[in-house]
Amino acid sequence: MDTALRIENLSASYDGKSALEGVSLEIPKNRITAVIGPSGCGKSTFLRCLNRFLQEDPGAQMSGSVELFGEDTAKIPLELLRRKIGMVFQIPSPFPFSIYRNMTYAPRYYGIRDRKKLDALVEEKLKLAGLYDEVKDDLNRSAMKLSGGQQQRLCIARALTVDPDVLLLDEPCSALDVRSSAVIEELLTSLKQRYTIVIVTHNIPQARRIADEAVFLFNGRLTEWGSAEQVLREPTQTETREFLSGVFG
Ligand SMILES: Nc1ncnc2c1ncn2[C@@H]1O[C@H](COP(=O)(O)OP(=O)(O)OP(=O)(O)O)[C@@H](O)[C@H]1O
Ligand SMILES: [Mg+2]
Repeated sequence: MDTALRIENLSASYDGKSALEGVSLEIPKNRITAVIGPSGCGKSTFLRCLNRFLQEDPGAQMSGSVELFGEDTAKIPLELLRRKIGMVFQIPSPFPFSIYRNMTYAPRYYGIRDRKKLDALVEEKLKLAGLYDEVKDDLNRSAMKLSGGQQQRLCIARALTVDPDVLLLDEPCSALDVRSSAVIEELLTSLKQRYTIVIVTHNIPQARRIADEAVFLFNGRLTEWGSAEQVLREPTQTETREFLSGVFG
């Protein structure tokens, strides 16, 4: 199994207050890794370290190393790193323009101007995100008029327009209904053939359905990681067992 991300001794803090401590693990390529744990345990912080989003926060600090396919991410120019490691957030956040412009925003920024190339890219990525058939008749429609689930799939499609290696998703379904969540779950499962996926989720049944690997964080520390089967069904640590049985969360 190839390793996409190798994380070593990763720590993070906000205004000197620790949020993540000495986390080391590997995230395999073309797999879905679920990050779980109680509220405030550092899941979003962990995700934000992987593409160095954390450094946008002036009070935040991180130490340790994150390698992407063997390359130290600290040495990759930020713009390139953010292309290689895309991110999708909890609240669907399309830009307030048309579906087409959402999809061509980054490719145009990176210099693609040819209309045919852009059209082909829009179609390809919307298809990958399972949205094309629903929107193909009116790509000039405002993205804000899509349903929440469609908006979230648009955000995933938009993240794919720059051909990332890794897709980070922070509770992408928590604002969606069960049916839209199921569509996203199916989508992520199909996308792992091409991308490495790391998803933070509060929804344990969801993690059980889609994750290959699971990472459990507790109070900023990694307490358990490995195959989802093992971590989510036969955890070895007390904290994980208690969390999964709903003692806290
Ligand atoms: N921007 C910030 N500034 C200061 N402290 C922060 C910031 N973001 C997070 N924290 C703190 O860092 C710790 C970890 O937060 P984080 O958001 O990573 O947790 P989480 O596991 O994602 O929680 P949740 O499940 O509620 O989303 C918490 O104590 C939180 O209060
Ligand atoms: Mg969070």
